[in-house]
Amino acid sequence: MKRLVSGIKPTGNIHLGNYLGAIKNWVELQKEYECFFFIADLHALTIEIDPRDLKQQTHELIIDLLALGINPKKTTFFRQSDIIGHAELGWIFNCLMPVAELSRMTQFKDESQKNINNINAGLLTYPSLQAADILIYKGDVVPVGKDQLQHLELTRIAARKFNNRYKRYFPEIKPILSPAQRLMSLNNSKKKMSKSLGPASYIAIRDDEETVTHKIKKAVTDEAGVKNLLELYSYFGKKSKHQKMEKAHAAGKLMNSELKEELTLEILKFLKPIQIKIANYETQPLKIDKIIKNGAKKAQKIADKNLAEIKKIIGF
Ligand code: TYM
Repeated sequence: MKRLVSGIKPTGNIHLGNYLGAIKNWVELQKEYECFFFIADLHALTIEIDPRDLKQQTHELIIDLLALGINPKKTTFFRQSDIIGHAELGWIFNCLMPVAELSRMTQFKDESQKNINNINAGLLTYPSLQAADILIYKGDVVPVGKDQLQHLELTRIAARKFNNRYKRYFPEIKPILSPAQRLMSLNNSKKKMSKSLGPASYIAIRDDEETVTHKIKKAVTDEAGVKNLLELYSYFGKKSKHQKMEKAHAAGKLMNSELKEELTLEILKFLKPIQIKIANYETQPLKIDKIIKNGAKKAQKIADKNLAEIKKIIGF
């Protein structure tokens, strides 16, 4: 069985961009691959985050992923910071990674611009740690949204540089994209739906009925905005209705209010059973703790074995 690795940052609740761009695929691919899914809490430190928020958001994210269908019996589900080895291999890759490659990353440029007072070294070396997250398990495939493709290219560079300098050890990874590669923000159709753009940008899977209705009502309806809403509808709504609305849109006859009402209805229908599961998990904090600790045990075994081999190869 091939190995699959992917992660998500605990910087806020899961939104539909994360879900459709990555998590939906994670859930489906559990059947086909040996999966490693983790909460990227080390990566979250590149953004200033209050320790209490980090703890709470990590807890909620674990619950969200379980409610969406991550099955800890089938997969290895853990917290990045629990595994000794990610940061260590990240350092080894830092010593192979060209700064020129790191500094041309779109995410590095965007985040530096957004946080002009906190352009830390972690933002720059972020892809080295990401390469370590994947390669410490010798992952073969990585399901992500389109925004992560650049980082995965650097994972391939890290593997190639290591293999060339020392010996062939790491596999060539392959990204897996979902049909929803890049959902746009509700309030700005030129930017991707993102936690860092604030809540009006996205629909979180924990949003209540009133919030979902309000956010969709306020969504921008320029050309790209309507296209984004139609795309969203295609993932949640009825196929025939979607085709009808696409046709009306092409003929310039689509009522934005109708599109928004239909979309709101379908999203609420999708969210309801997930929110019931979330509420149920919220009553079982000890169970959540146990699940994530068990995941760490499983991951650590493999990370230890591979890191020992890597250290031997580099002459430690
Ligand atoms: P993060 O936490 O920003 O996002 C998690 C996943 O959601 C996808 N995504 C989107 N897809 C489509 N449209 C959108 N608007 C949208 N917004 C987010 C992201 O592409 C991602 O797949 N660096 C990663 C976390 C990470 C990781 C890894 C991933 C750390 N180490 C190793 C894979 C392998 C990140 O920032 O994800």
